[in-house]
Amino acid sequence: MSAPVRTGDTARLVARVAALSLHRPRHPDRRWDDFWRGVSQGSLTEPIIWDAAGAGHEETRNHLQTMADLMDTSLPVIDLGCGNGAISRQLADLFPSVLGVDVSPGAVAAAGSAHARIPGLSFRSLDATRPADAAGLAQEIGDANVFVRGVFHVLSRRRQAGLAASVEALLGAGGRIYLVETNVPGGALSYLRRLGATGDRIPGPLRQAISALPKPGHFGARQRSRVFPASRWTLVAEGSTFLTTVPMEPGGRPGSIPAYWAVLGRRPPGGFARP
Ligand SMILES: C[S@@+](CC[C@H](N)C(=O)[O-])C[C@H]1O[C@@H](n2cnc3c(N)ncnc32)[C@H](O)[C@@H]1O
Repeated sequence: MSAPVRTGDTARLVARVAALSLHRPRHPDRRWDDFWRGVSQGSLTEPIIWDAAGAGHEETRNHLQTMADLMDTSLPVIDLGCGNGAISRQLADLFPSVLGVDVSPGAVAAAGSAHARIPGLSFRSLDATRPADAAGLAQEIGDANVFVRGVFHVLSRRRQAGLAASVEALLGAGGRIYLVETNVPGGALSYLRRLGATGDRIPGPLRQAISALPKPGHFGARQRSRVFPASRWTLVAEGSTFLTTVPMEPGGRPGSIPAYWAVLGRRPPGGFARP
């Protein structure tokens, strides 16, 4: 494509995205609950963009293998920001009990009815960026592992810090966190183009996400070391990976988004976490 055509296409893409973003609900938690209620009630009809890593999928297998290698799988796990519970369900194959937690009561209701009879699996509505609420949960459950997929990168810095403080409360001395977050190099436009958006057309699942959800950001090693400082956390392992998306067009192949993963434990006061 020649430079002037590409410039015109970029201008049209920016204008399309701005128009789609106009009607996003303002409060972030309302945004998520509106989204999940729209999905359940059928007003949002496009596939959920990140909802592709189901049973037996390579992405999920990789998460489970890393957790099996690096976490104490005799402890329960809490899936923070569990959405419809598709991955919470897979975690139940590895951990003795799984609690899926989401700020959206609509998501929790959908997850509960989709996975009603799985032993050890339950769901609860809770704002995971409120450490006091997480501390109450920690008292109930005791030491636990935490799984987070695709939540830090949609939060403000302040709320990211709140989520990390909640994780700290939940892990206790024996638990670890496994996090995996999108980490697309370049700006928002390269993210959109990677998923097939042009000035003339934005694929349905992406259009739906732009109009209904918070704008995603980056979450890589730099953001992780800010949110989980070395003074309080031990980095056990980290790496690059891909998150799977649904096909952007009906009948198409699943897509992938560059991502970052890490496993961390709490640094004991005045000491070192186990290797
Ligand atoms: C991109 S989705 C990922 C869902 C799920 N982890 C997955 O990978 O399928 C982000 C999820 O985080 C939830 N969420 C956002 N803010 C939250 C908060 N403060 N506390 C708990 N959940 C939150 C949203 O409702 C949504 O279900």
